This record gives sequence, structure tokens and C-alpha cells, in this order.
Amino acid sequence: MLGGVFLLSLLGLLPPPAADALDNGLALQPTMGWLHWERFMCNTDCDRDPDNCISERLYMQMADVMVKEGWKEAGYEYVCIDDCWPSHQRDAQGRLQADPKRFPGGIKKLADYVHSKGLKLGIYADVGTKTCGGYPGSLGYYEADAQTFADWDVDLLKFDGCYMDWTLLGEGYINMSKALNKTGRSILYSCEWPLYEWPHQQPNYKAIRETCNHWRNFDDVYDSWSSVKSILAWTASHQDIIAPAAGPGGWNDPDMLVIGNFGLSHDQQESQMALWAIMAAPLLMSNDLRDICPRSKGLLQNRHIIAINQDPLGYQGYLTAKMDSFEVWEKRLSANRLAVAVLNTQEIGGARGFFLRAAPGWKICDPQCNVTQILPQYKELGVQNPHTKIVISVNPSGTALLTITPISSDSNTPYKLHWQDTSVKRKHTITF
Ligand SMILES: *[C@@H]1O[C@H](CO)[C@@H](O)[C@H](O)[C@H]1NC(C)=O
Ligand SMILES: *[C@@H]1O[C@H](CO)[C@@H](O)[C@H](O)[C@H]1NC(C)=O
Ligand SMILES: *[C@@H]1O[C@H](CO)[C@@H](O)[C@H](O)[C@H]1NC(C)=O
Repeated sequence: MLGGVFLLSLLGLLPPPAADALDNGLALQPTMGWLHWERFMCNTDCDRDPDNCISERLYMQMADVMVKEGWKEAGYEYVCIDDCWPSHQRDAQGRLQADPKRFPGGIKKLADYVHSKGLKLGIYADVGTKTCGGYPGSLGYYEADAQTFADWDVDLLKFDGCYMDWTLLGEGYINMSKALNKTGRSILYSCEWPLYEWPHQQPNYKAIRETCNHWRNFDDVYDSWSSVKSILAWTASHQDIIAPAAGPGGWNDPDMLVIGNFGLSHDQQESQMALWAIMAAPLLMSNDLRDICPRSKGLLQNRHIIAINQDPLGYQGYLTAKMDSFEVWEKRLSANRLAVAVLNTQEIGGARGFFLRAAPGWKICDPQCNVTQILPQYKELGVQNPHTKIVISVNPSGTALLTITPISSDSNTPYKLHWQDTSVKRKHTITF
């Protein structure tokens, strides 16, 4: 069944991020790796569930698989510990320590192991008095904890925001950022500052970008399509505020990829992967890499999608059109290229056709452009002009992902793109 005829917009994007990023030389492209939370949560019962409990074995096994099964080669680099790793008590010197039963070798030895595989180790702490799981928080210990993580050769810190007076969030996150810098070790800094501030006031994204390498804005992801949809809806409705803050060195973090778990159909997994690429999101998988179906693995390792996510320009994409139960999201790429994702939001029936047709202002295909479909199947759709029509088929809750490369008769002529969509009440203009 075919839907209506649509005009493909060309998104005009905003100028490159004006604010400076945190100057630690890290996260020049969105972070890629694995993070334990969504799949393994706060499972500390190693007696009854030794394969899935939060223990050094879990991270060592993930690191092994990441090297053996092509994850590292695809770009996934950070093996990240989330909450529930520490002992409930600090040591006699006031330092955080790993739970001795579950991490008998300690974090330094685990970091050495992960480094020996050519990977990096991430750890977790909290800006307040306790972590969300009730373990010791870092309030009052920022410098000590930063130094502990540096002494252990940790490469990334996820800093949660539970048990903190919200009026002190900014100060706390900034103080920890300075403490990390002071150690002299480059430690990627993943924040949740805006997530905890939004209920009270609009966060200051300029300050956040200067402080953090990425930042969570919205609820934790769950292993369900309704969760993924709610994250996309929140992002779309706040894109004018958050998207301009993204760029090399600092990214909006819509939370983990849950691809390869239980809750998403394959089409929905493709939608998460495509939209996380469009959003220039950190690609932090939370799944069991020891046991993952080949289709999910192929999707997570798809180099064409990863290339869209990792594009060196570092623009976050926007929702640019919503019509007839389709959403069109667009991300500007380097070399004047464009990535376009078309999400079919109608959750009944079968595949529906979406017509791409050059809008009057769609100069990227004037005189010609080259269109490549990446999802659901890789297909070179070839050279198009402003008058050709393409129909792409999109399954319910699935996404078609395309790249569009302009073929200019004179590649030195800058061209201006202009487009207006009244349904999202914004006007996009860009000059290449
Ligand atoms: C600390 O900050 C300074 C100034 O912003 C920067 O030049 C330096 O590279 C940073 N060091 C680390 C380890 O992040
Ligand atoms: C941040 O550091 C400043 C300066 O040392 C200090 O006055 C303030 O109390 C700190 N805030 C927090 C939340 O740690
Ligand atoms: C179009 O893009 C495909 C995929 O990148 C490439 O193989 C092909 O040569 C391109 N065609 C033209 C005319 O640029």
C-alpha cells in the first residue's frame, strides 16, 4: 500500500556549535562501546547467577568477545561499568573500593586487562551523597575519587545525579570536571546533569558542553519500543534547544542501544540504530555480546550506519517532517552529503511506500544527486534529479535510512538550501 506523495525536505542546519567543548581531547566523535546497565542492572548475586552478576568476569568476558567477534574492529572501544560495582564502605583512607568478592583483582587490574585487549575501561559514580543503587556517592570526595579513577587507569567516568540537591547540580558536575582535569589523565566524562535539572528549569547547554563529553537529557532506556519512542519524541520536541549543543567533543546522550535483547522487533532495532546514528548519539550497547543473534550483530556492526553516526562534522540531525504517519529525520554529513531516515510510525498493517520527491528548494539534487539506501537493505538507488521520484518501502515501526550525495556540475559553487515545514513550525536554511 502506498501512502501519499511527499516532498523531501532538505534540512537546513544550524551553524556549527558555537560553544567550546570540554577541552580534554576526547569524544571528537560519538563514543562507542558497551555499558552494563540496561541488560545486567544491579545483579550482585554471583553465587546464584555467576555469569550475569556485576563482577570483573563480566567485563573481562565482554572485552574478550569485543575483540574476537569484530566489535572492536567496528569501532566499539569502551567497556563500561555502571552502578553497583563498589563496596558499601570507603576504605580507611576514604577511597572508593570495588566490592572485594565480585572484583577480587580490583579495578586497576581489570583496566590493565581491558587495555591489553586494545580497549578502554569506563566506571560509574554519582555527583550526590549516594549512587542511585545506594552505594557511596562522591559529594565531598570529587578530587579524591577523580584521583582514584586516574590511579586505576580508568578511561571514562559516567557520573550519575541521584541524591543531590538540584540547585548544586551544576557546581557538582563542574567541580568533578575540574577534578578529572587536575589528575592529568584524559578521562572521558559522561554526565547526567540536564536529566536531573529539566524537572526544575531549562539547563544551560553552553555550560554543560564546556563541562562534559556527553550528557543524558531524558529517562533511562528500557528494552521496549515504547521506551525508544518516548526518547525520540522527547528529543524531537526539544531539538531546537539540545541539537545545537552537539558537536565534536560533546554530545547529547539518548542512552544505551538495547539492540540484541528481548523487547524490540528487528524493524524496531533498525529504527533505534538508524535514529541513534542520525542523532549523533554515543553508541553504547547494553546487551549480552556472548549471546546475540547474527541479525542484531550485523545491524550493530553495519559500517554504513556507523559512518553516519561518526561523521567527522559532528552535526546532530533533526526531525524535519511529520506526515501521514511518517517521520523524516535528517542529518547533515561531511562533503555536503545528507543522511535521511524515514520512520513509519503506523503500527498496523504492512509495509507502506514513502515517495521521496525533490522539493522546489531541494537543491542537493539539482542538477543531480546520488542516493544510497542503507536500511532496510543496502541498495544503490543511483543518480537522481529534481524531477525523479523514488518510492521506498518501510515496515510498521521500521526505518529506511538513506544517504544523498550531491553531484554538482561545478563543485566549487556553494549552493543554498531552503525549506519550510509548517507541521514542525520551523524553517531550515543552510549554505554549503
Ligand atoms: C585540562 O584543561 C586544560 C585547559 O582547558 C587542557 O588544555 C588540558 O588538556 C586538560 N587536561 C586534561 C588531562 O584533560
Ligand atoms: C565546588 O567547588 C567550590 C570551590 O571549591 C566550592 O565552594 C563548592 O562548595 C563546590 N560545590 C560542590 C557541590 O561540591
Ligand atoms: C553512487 O554511490 C555509490 C555508493 O557509494 C557508488 O558506488 C557509485 O559509484 C555512486 N555513483 C555515482 C554516479 O557517483
